[in-house]
Amino acid sequence: MASTRGEFSSRFGFIMAASGSAVGLGNIWGFPTQAAGNGGAAFLAVYLVLAFTLAYPALMAELIIGRHAHSNPVQALRAISRTPLLANIGAAGGMAGLVIASLILSFYAIVAGWMVAFCLASLVGLMGAEEASQWLTAFGLGRNLVFTYLFIALTALIVTAGVKQGIERWSERLMPILIITLLVLIAYVLTLEGATEGLRVYLLPDFSRSLSPDLILRALGAAFFSLSLGVGTMLVYGSYVKDDENLPLLGGVVTLIDISIAVLAGFLIMPAMYVALQNGVEIFGEDGTLISEDTLIFTVLPELFATMGTTGVIVSITFFFLMSIAALTSSISMLEVSVAYATESRGVKRRWAAPLIACGIAAASTLIIFDFSNLFSMVITLTTRYGQPLLGFIFCLYAGWIWQRDGVLQELRKGNPDAEHSLFWKIWPWYVRLVCPTIILCIFAQATLA
Ligand code: TRP
Repeated sequence: MASTRGEFSSRFGFIMAASGSAVGLGNIWGFPTQAAGNGGAAFLAVYLVLAFTLAYPALMAELIIGRHAHSNPVQALRAISRTPLLANIGAAGGMAGLVIASLILSFYAIVAGWMVAFCLASLVGLMGAEEASQWLTAFGLGRNLVFTYLFIALTALIVTAGVKQGIERWSERLMPILIITLLVLIAYVLTLEGATEGLRVYLLPDFSRSLSPDLILRALGAAFFSLSLGVGTMLVYGSYVKDDENLPLLGGVVTLIDISIAVLAGFLIMPAMYVALQNGVEIFGEDGTLISEDTLIFTVLPELFATMGTTGVIVSITFFFLMSIAALTSSISMLEVSVAYATESRGVKRRWAAPLIACGIAAASTLIIFDFSNLFSMVITLTTRYGQPLLGFIFCLYAGWIWQRDGVLQELRKGNPDAEHSLFWKIWPWYVRLVCPTIILCIFAQATLA
């Protein structure tokens, strides 16, 4: 069985893969407008504190369990359990993780497909194919199906190539491109008229809003989604890390990259919105708040690009290319969760497992597309509001209570002989035992009662 296991070949490879998973649509279309609408720099401060004090410990729980067991979530939770009952509950939790990761991919791929379609639309528009361009940007059944399948196929292609040859290699290529593209776009947008007003709105702190309990819980939910927590994604990536690596350090770097890119995205999106306003595009919704999420990406920004002539077309291609890359390095991490299980625990060859599971996910996406108005938001709520926090809770309980303390320490010593005296070891065990589960329960309670 050991021969089917992949491994990241370098520290850089892991960091690119894990931050590739973390940096996704959530960072670029969710974070900036949420920050702007909720107290600007004050929201940012709350988000930073939460990400490091709560999301980071939960990320570490997954990474440490994964690296210790060197296996998928189902086997890993079984391996650290002390009684058959706990082992079975753990395995069931791991299974639920596979299902939820796959369901997240089934809606994520639809949105990612739109990004690819919009990128192509600008490209063919540039060549004068107006009709094709319109088909690509209009919300139609054919367009939705074609681009969802295309995106899932691309994801499956990378995952089929394996951990080193597929996931690591492509993350190492795509993540630097993503960061450079983002910086170039920011530099360009900041030169336009109206941009500084966007920066002002983004960064002006208003603490009266950001300290409300409702908002803190919402920021935490966003941090969990952004770090890909609660479905075993990070556990699986942790399982491919070599034993001599210092995990708390690697996890810290990944958290830092994820947060930095979310914050940086604000320097692109917020100025862009106010440039759009300057150019006569409506950027506020009926309730007076900033337009966000899908309307922002697929209506406001394209309208802005349209006011910019040929330059706008280039900027549009670059922007949607950026979004497509961000989505791809995230989607491969979702597919890998089930593929890791199928190859290790079921003995299916990777070259069969990845395409077959991808077909199952494409089938789920098809259902969602056919009954879009009902299923799309339902699947999102089910997976991200309920599934992720609940399973994140189970991972923390297994890392904090079920797994013996000595076992955890031994695992940490592999990459840092002095782990016992580290600051991490003084603080983290308490967090993962008490603080994280309590907070997750609060999010969950809020999500259920809301
Ligand atoms: N973190 C990614 C984003 O911000 C999405 C993502 C990747 C994810 N893997 C995940 C979300 C697993 C939840 C669970 O877009």
